[in-house]
Amino acid sequence: MGPMTELVAPDARWHASWAEAMLEFGSGYPHGSGLGDVSPTYDEAGCAAYAAGLLRAEHTPPREDWVPCTYLWITDREELVGFLALRHALNAWLLDEGGHIGFSVRPSRRREGHAARALALALPLAADLGLERVLLTCDEDNDGSRLTIEGNGGVYEDSRNGKRRYWIATG
Ligand SMILES: CC(C)(COP(=O)(O)OP(=O)(O)OC[C@H]1O[C@@H](n2cnc3c(N)ncnc32)[C@H](O)[C@@H]1OP(=O)(O)O)[C@@H](O)C(=O)NCCC(=O)NCCS
Repeated sequence: MGPMTELVAPDARWHASWAEAMLEFGSGYPHGSGLGDVSPTYDEAGCAAYAAGLLRAEHTPPREDWVPCTYLWITDREELVGFLALRHALNAWLLDEGGHIGFSVRPSRRREGHAARALALALPLAADLGLERVLLTCDEDNDGSRLTIEGNGGVYEDSRNGKRRYWIATG
């Protein structure tokens, strides 16, 4: 049985593997694809609170300088394997360094193709938001992220502050 990567809305039904994933990330919480480690507990209630915060951010960003963002969870059958953020617009920092889409796969589930497939699944969602092309960025030395972006058709534009910047057409 091969992997079955899907993007789903944050929901407490994933609490068991959500807790495992968050603990795997530890202080390196899903950077660029989550809200930080804001959950007080790694149980179902903590997961529900975290999911609610992510869903709220789609319309009401938690900070004034943040843009609306759709947070999605990357799953493989019954397990949460990663996190993805689809920002609806770019502010000055996102244009230079952050990009529209960020993602991270939990350490124990890397090198299985989840990031590549999750990014491919996110592109039509970006098109639905009216984005004809999306900006993706990665650190100069992040081979995994770079290959994920290039494998999804990323066209390199330039590097700014140590970040490689790529555009991907969504249509
Ligand atoms: C970067 C990251 C998301 C990759 O996730 P993944 O699910 O392991 O990636 P995939 O299995 O889909 O691999 C995609 C491509 O990258 C390559 N790759 C993945 N990790 C790699 C690594 N550490 N070194 C070299 N190549 C790597 C794969 O071989 C594949 O290349 P291919 O298309 O030539 O076969 C994951 O390592 C991660 O979460 N890192 C920490 C957070 C992060 O850096 N996020 C990206 C910020 S933009």
